[in-house]
Amino acid sequence: MSAELFDPWSAEFVARPYPAYAWLREHAPVHWFEPSRQYLISRHEDVNALLRDRRLGRSYLPVASHEEMGRSAPPAYEEPFWTLNNNGMLDREPPDHTRLRRLVSQAFTPRRVEALRPVVQRLADGLVDAFVAAGGGDLIAAVAEPLPVTVIAELLGISEADRHLLRPWSAAICGMYELNPSRESAEAAVRASEEFSDYLRSLARRRAAEPQDDLVSALAAVEGLSEDELIGTCVLLLNAGHEATVNVTGNGWWALLRNPDALARLRAEPELLPGAIEELMRFDTPLQMFERWVLEDIEVRGVSIPRGSEVALLFGSANHDPAVFSDPERLDLGRRDNPHISFGAGIHYCLGAPLARIELASSFGALLAKAPDLRLDREPRWKPGYVIRGLEALEVSA
Ligand code: HEM
Repeated sequence: MSAELFDPWSAEFVARPYPAYAWLREHAPVHWFEPSRQYLISRHEDVNALLRDRRLGRSYLPVASHEEMGRSAPPAYEEPFWTLNNNGMLDREPPDHTRLRRLVSQAFTPRRVEALRPVVQRLADGLVDAFVAAGGGDLIAAVAEPLPVTVIAELLGISEADRHLLRPWSAAICGMYELNPSRESAEAAVRASEEFSDYLRSLARRRAAEPQDDLVSALAAVEGLSEDELIGTCVLLLNAGHEATVNVTGNGWWALLRNPDALARLRAEPELLPGAIEELMRFDTPLQMFERWVLEDIEVRGVSIPRGSEVALLFGSANHDPAVFSDPERLDLGRRDNPHISFGAGIHYCLGAPLARIELASSFGALLAKAPDLRLDREPRWKPGYVIRGLEALEVSA
């Protein structure tokens, strides 16, 4: 076993990253990884601390230019992607981040989210009923994807006729969040960014003129949010608001089907469901890695990391750290103390966590109740992506 096992471009690693993480945590908790020119951070304590450390940022642009950080600016043709990305709150830093998060929270209120619970449950029940009536199929295409995409589309106020556009745009844009994306992925992301921005610009203008009861109208009415920020926010809500939820559903059911004792226990004790969802998010982490720029020299476990460096925070590894989770490779749906890091920590802590929990409780609950004989038909395959890690399909009989 060695650090070479950390190979995010290999299918074997994507299928089973956990042994390499165990090696890193034990032997090289702060490890320079030349292929992506990042320091890999693998222990829970360090990932958690660095997420909260204001000497690091998701972007360095508020404090330094590309040249000052010893980096080159992205190629000009990628500009539409970066404009979109840099206008969402996730890639802003205080004070801009604070302002944007506050403004979006004003529209994306706990009341608006809680009001969605019965809507989400109805949608989940409908999708699962159709899935069971068909005798099963691909759980990801039939249930895991349409649920969060429909919820976020409803929330934003995107018409049913246009919803088929969302997932391809989101998938193309998210290709840029993988390590060292290819020119082809970058071009697809740029095209999607242009199309999606144009679409939202026109929708926002229509809603500003004729408001309806949706989030785009609410955001259009918020003072101090520019049109580009509104667009960046909606794209972020769509991308962040479904990619991970799809993968928790797929990865989670695959984990349950591989662990029939755990699944039987959950069927027998449905009150375990909320804790079980947290455990599934820990056990097979849907977003394996988040990056941060080092804005001032820091030291982690005796390793000096200079300003201008990038650290890769390995969430999947933090979630399997035996210093925090007893018997971490075991799926324990009754686990009590579960400070998993899947929703992040610090100022960028997931704004959508309450909605994600509602969606997951609805779809897992509906499948447990309505598909008591769910069986795996075919060994699933992992998609090539490592950062956003999920299955291509999950073929089951119901
Ligand atoms: C299980 C599903 C989800 C997971 C695992 C997840 C995970 C995360 C993580 C780890 C971050 C922080 C990233 C960082 O610190 O670099 C984040 C941020 C964010 N998430 Fe989620 N998320 C999920 C679902 C959602 C949903 C349903 C929404 C909204 C509808 C959402 C909206 C956001 C937003 C807006 C941010 C940016 C917050 C900020 O920058 O202040 N997420 N999410």
